[in-house]
Amino acid sequence: MAFFLAVANRKGGVGKSTISVMLAQAFAIWGNKRVLMIDLDSQCNASLILIGGQGWRDARNADKTIADFFYDLFDGIPAKPRDYLQPNVGDVADATGKAPRLALLPGSLLLEDIQGELFVRQAKESSNPEIVANRVRGRIENLLRRYGASYDLVVLDCPPGLSLAALAALKTADKVIVPFKPDYVSQLAVDRIALLIEDKGTLDALGAVPHDQRRYTCLANGVRNSGKDRNLIEEIGLFHPMLETRMPQKDSIANAFDWEPGLRSLEKKYGDGLADMRKLYTEVAPMLEQAAEAKLQAANQ
Ligand SMILES: Nc1ncnc2c1ncn2[C@@H]1O[C@H](COP(=O)(O)OP(=O)(O)O)[C@@H](O)[C@H]1O
Ligand SMILES: [Mg+2]
Repeated sequence: MAFFLAVANRKGGVGKSTISVMLAQAFAIWGNKRVLMIDLDSQCNASLILIGGQGWRDARNADKTIADFFYDLFDGIPAKPRDYLQPNVGDVADATGKAPRLALLPGSLLLEDIQGELFVRQAKESSNPEIVANRVRGRIENLLRRYGASYDLVVLDCPPGLSLAALAALKTADKVIVPFKPDYVSQLAVDRIALLIEDKGTLDALGAVPHDQRRYTCLANGVRNSGKDRNLIEEIGLFHPMLETRMPQKDSIANAFDWEPGLRSLEKKYGDGLADMRKLYTEVAPMLEQAAEAKLQAANQ
């Protein structure tokens, strides 16, 4: 049974795709897990990081993207989820020099169009927009869950904003990591996505949920060595669960965005950002392990 990890924030540019790929590669290589990355963002950055621009164009030309999977299934074509995946993606090697067991369901510019089309189709069956939206979201959730069977970990790189695909990902996720950059609007953005994840109407209601019972945890990313950043992070951490790891603002992490042909070592790809990646993985791995065990126990009851 796969564990679903979403990386989400309604704000763009906070490092969702960067952190998603880092965690996917860390779990595949250091954790020896079978990992699948699902790219839910129509900007497709996770896909570009993992297979490069040409690889992504090839996937689109071959009709092997998340949009193609959705379209085919909704059209009643007996689509097999794995037919849309790219196996062994990324430009890093594991310790034996081989590509890790990391697969990708490539993103698509058309994902937003599909959600609109599904909405229109469902709207023929009900005139209540809320019911229609819930049904469409539910269908997307089912499609995402179909990918659970053959993986240990499914990472959902979410789009910014509140598309039905983003909502479906948040519903599907066993755990959500919310990266944020320490600035003055980040608190608001974190509050808003936390309310959504915990399904609470007010911050008071959210505040009543103990930190260790919340499905999400925050991750400060792009942190500079300044008192202002530290204060902002501490302030957000008073109200929200927060990883101890703080990802610094580093050129090496920014450069890891660029896909290169061939396989290189993690050290080569991440440079001095590798120690930060290791720290992040070391903190997140036991957290997911615990949550996965709880999920398994709940399923067996
Ligand atoms: N810790 C970091 N240090 C330096 N650059 C970063 C860091 N995290 C993200 N970036 C850069 O910030 C930009 C936005 O990151 P991205 O992962 O695409 O955010 P999102 O997915 O939330 O839109 C990218 O250019 C990325 O390389
Ligand atoms: Mg992104």
